[in-house]
Amino acid sequence: MLTLQRVEQVRGASRAARRTGRSIGFVPTMGALHAGHRALMSAARGRCDLVFVSIFVNPMQFGPNEDFAKYPRTLEADLAACREERVDAVFTPETAELYPPGARTTVHVAGLTERLCGPFRPGHFDGVTTVVAKLFGIVEPDLAFFGEKDFQQLVIVQQMVRDLNLPVEIVACPTVREPDGLAMSSRNAYLSPDERVQASSLYAAMTTAQRAAYAGTRHAASLIEQMRRQILAAGPATIDYISIVDPNDLTDIAVLDRPARICLAVRIGRTRLIDNLPLDLPAVQR
Ligand code: PAJ
Repeated sequence: MLTLQRVEQVRGASRAARRTGRSIGFVPTMGALHAGHRALMSAARGRCDLVFVSIFVNPMQFGPNEDFAKYPRTLEADLAACREERVDAVFTPETAELYPPGARTTVHVAGLTERLCGPFRPGHFDGVTTVVAKLFGIVEPDLAFFGEKDFQQLVIVQQMVRDLNLPVEIVACPTVREPDGLAMSSRNAYLSPDERVQASSLYAAMTTAQRAAYAGTRHAASLIEQMRRQILAAGPATIDYISIVDPNDLTDIAVLDRPARICLAVRIGRTRLIDNLPLDLPAVQR
């Protein structure tokens, strides 16, 4: 497994692979790798000749009061995980390698970035799309793998790829969960034992709402209220939002007459958790 720090090294490895007709699958990450990340690598392994992973805690996507400094950094364990997943190359750039002085260009996806997490994390998604566009330009992958765990991020990256005609196919992979339903996340490490127990209420509330929707409840507001109650009953939490949205444009859906997505962001103690689940409802003929 190659571990590369320089843009030119990655470009060289990628172009050499392409010259011999081999396809490249790419998994961008911020490290602190867990089974969710590994599922993306395994999906890439299954579909591509070569698998490239990036590990870069991207300062541009963290707000001034967010957890950039304390974000978990576990490079040795991450490299071991990549080796186990039979990754071919890992890109671990220094910040200055990706953001040399003098850069003036950012990527902004209008509209989609203003919904859900947008108001709570100003500038976050511009940081994501800018670094992802840069990484695509460096790695030049055929396929890139993203988790549904970060559903808004996935939708925004898909929109960017369409709008900029980037020559990469985005592959969405299902959320990997702990046995009690909590979505795996590098940030789960911040939870105290009590908070960790409480955190399972997010998935429990969403599955309750999913069952109610499949049993016939059609009003999003009542499902949202039910989820709010169930989450707050589990312990003190700050609900940033619980929304039921159109999965294509992330706008709110009031009456469930077509496929929808439950999306939520909840703070438990100092840890902000996000999660989502589909409501695969048949479109009603109107
Ligand atoms: P990070 O949070 O490290 O996540 C990297 C990828 O792993 C993302 O596509 C994310 O959706 C996926 N992922 C995380 N937890 C998952 C889970 N439980 N199940 C399935 N997939 C999961 O997302 C980022 O990094 C960054 O924003 C990045 C795209 C790398 C840009 O900096």
